[in-house]
Amino acid sequence: MNYMHVDYSTKIPNNVNLSEDRQVLKALEGWHPGYMNWWSDMGPDGFQQSLVYLRTAYSVDPRGWAKFDYVKMPDYRWGILLAPQEENRVIPFGEDFGKPAWQEVPGEHRAMLRRLIVIQGDTEPASVEQQRHLGKTAPSLYDLRNLFQVNVEEGRHLWAMVYLLQKYFGRDGREEADELLRRRSGDADSPRMLGAFNEATPDWLSFFMFTYFTDRDGKMQLHSLAQSGFDPLSRTCRFMLTEEAHHMFVGETGISRVVQRTCEAMREVGVADPADIAKVRALGVIDLPTIQKKLNLHYSLSLDLFGSEVSTNAANAFNAGIKGRYRETQIEDDHRLQNATYPVLKLVGGEIKRVDEPALTALNMRLRDDYTQDCAKGMLRWNKIISSAGYGIKLTLPNVAFHRAIGEFRDIHATPDGVLIDDATWNRRQSEWLPSTADGDFIASLMTPVTETGKFAPWISPPKVGIDNKPGDFEYVKIET
Ligand SMILES: [Fe+2]
Ligand SMILES: [Fe+2]
Repeated sequence: MNYMHVDYSTKIPNNVNLSEDRQVLKALEGWHPGYMNWWSDMGPDGFQQSLVYLRTAYSVDPRGWAKFDYVKMPDYRWGILLAPQEENRVIPFGEDFGKPAWQEVPGEHRAMLRRLIVIQGDTEPASVEQQRHLGKTAPSLYDLRNLFQVNVEEGRHLWAMVYLLQKYFGRDGREEADELLRRRSGDADSPRMLGAFNEATPDWLSFFMFTYFTDRDGKMQLHSLAQSGFDPLSRTCRFMLTEEAHHMFVGETGISRVVQRTCEAMREVGVADPADIAKVRALGVIDLPTIQKKLNLHYSLSLDLFGSEVSTNAANAFNAGIKGRYRETQIEDDHRLQNATYPVLKLVGGEIKRVDEPALTALNMRLRDDYTQDCAKGMLRWNKIISSAGYGIKLTLPNVAFHRAIGEFRDIHATPDGVLIDDATWNRRQSEWLPSTADGDFIASLMTPVTETGKFAPWISPPKVGIDNKPGDFEYVKIET
């Protein structure tokens, strides 16, 4: 079997030899029309007949896996792509540490594996649903194209999880695959499984924050699942990570460009105080304090995706060899964690304190800490733009106790600095820290679409380089009307 090149001869491009796996091919072909219906109902609103300059995977070779071309989104070749099988791979953690990785689902871990795959799978179409209206207000064709690239790849990630369900979980896998097309982000009766994936993404600043913070939670989860002793899951996640990197690039550079434009506009007219919101907004750009509020919102919502700091589910998944730690194989320890401890932030006697917990039950906390470290890199880049423009304001990550709905801090209120406050103070002051309706209305007022090639909305700077090294006036989307 050739693992590196993708077979485009069947309806479903793949590198898993589907043409010789008739049963699974049939199951996937049976699921395909439902997927296309979902895409047309819940995928990007409009633009389905536009030619979009998209990258499509044609191999899983990390040196050159993608080609770029104009594609109508419904014609995008969603496929099943797994990273190459590593010879003699062993289970890198847990009770079966060092034994050969499983090529089939181990019976005793079946339910746990299926649940993890379904949860991961559910997030993929959810974000497409959340972002479906954004095409109508894109600040440029470049950004419009990036949105659609993210959307088609999230669709492919759904295919990736559905393949695992169809191939390895029989009848209940097929039922779960159907359910993934039935739930809807934000639906009162049939919502998506995780909180952040039921929130609205009302504007482009939210989109950039989402791809920076929430897609990065996805990165951390995929890294942990890429360690899995269940080899097909590991290989699937490894390839998904190559696509995920672009989503976070869109977020990081998107926020950079917003910050850049705001700083330029302030300098042009000599605004001395970047916290003078009225003055900055009058320039038609998004003031830095409002960017901070959006950041507070999306970071705190994304922290909730890691679940409770102390979790027996996480311990069980690790013991079972199903879900490991971030960069598990690079950690130097016994990979079993039977006696290790890990410091967990907890509420103790009304104060936030670090308390040592068994490392096994503290795995969610550990992954969340790794996530926070990863998030901090963006602050450095954005703050450099601000300081280079001569301003002293700094964007910061709020304290992990701020605005939480899950885990240790769900029942208390804290300021972004981590000071505990009572309900009355929270109610009085929360609009200082989270976007208010007025903030949302102001941002919405800037969201007028720009569809001329090479032009950008006045609240965002152009990117430093084009996609696929295209020049600044490249027509990334040929809009049909
Ligand atoms: Fe994804
Ligand atoms: Fe993503």
